[in-house]
Amino acid sequence: MSAVLERAQPTWESTAEHELTRENLALLLDNRISAIRIRGFATPAECAGFAAAAKKGRMQYYNVSDRIGYIGLAQYQYRWNRTKEEFLADVPQARADVEEVFAQSFDPLARLMERLQAAWDRPVDFAREGERPYFAGIIRSTSDKIDLHVDWAPVNSPDYAIGAIDGQLGWNFFAEELESGGHTTVYNAPWNPLVTPGEIPKSYGLDHALVEGAPRFTYRATAGDVVIFNTRNPHEVAPGTCMPGGSRVSIGSFVGRMPAGNLVLWA
Ligand SMILES: [Fe+2]
Repeated sequence: MSAVLERAQPTWESTAEHELTRENLALLLDNRISAIRIRGFATPAECAGFAAAAKKGRMQYYNVSDRIGYIGLAQYQYRWNRTKEEFLADVPQARADVEEVFAQSFDPLARLMERLQAAWDRPVDFAREGERPYFAGIIRSTSDKIDLHVDWAPVNSPDYAIGAIDGQLGWNFFAEELESGGHTTVYNAPWNPLVTPGEIPKSYGLDHALVEGAPRFTYRATAGDVVIFNTRNPHEVAPGTCMPGGSRVSIGSFVGRMPAGNLVLWA
């Protein structure tokens, strides 16, 4: 841990779950509340249909030893070793892969964007580099833990259009839940690392000393709900146990607020 890293000051005024409204969305983007939950975002039949369609979809794995399956792509996979052009060129295939799942069930991404747009007075759309859209709506199937990390594009991706955002949220829709465990904990210690020009600081596998004593919010994924939180706060997911024969299928993306106030989505 760097000696020059100052302890982040807490910013939350509430650690409860809030409803999706214009005011709460602004408070979440400003990191003043811990979370928004959209209860009953999808029916049990839609959840079952989505999980079944995802399992028949073009599921890929980061490597053979872990069990985190995904459909689509994640922009952060391209940050270090691959170019922005390679990233943008892969977007259409990723989009086709998730649309195949949506066509067999329902489209949680479009529904979520409609819900956000209904609550927000500026445009809600995919993030773009010039005219070219990012991918949003990565589907995952896993019960594995996810180590303490932050997702904050101004520091993670300064050379991308999303580097200009002034607030970053992550939403997840869960079509299936675990038998036990798998809860997500968010720590209100907003990330503000010392940045060396030309270097992207490590944002994954963070030291827990960074969040010691910080206010925390823990939630359990419940099938049919969407939960949204501010991903500049360090967060982690505990390992879980699947239902017999099950997994945990989810879909999610980031939502950033651009300087003009419009919201942009990417995964
Ligand atoms: Fe994250």
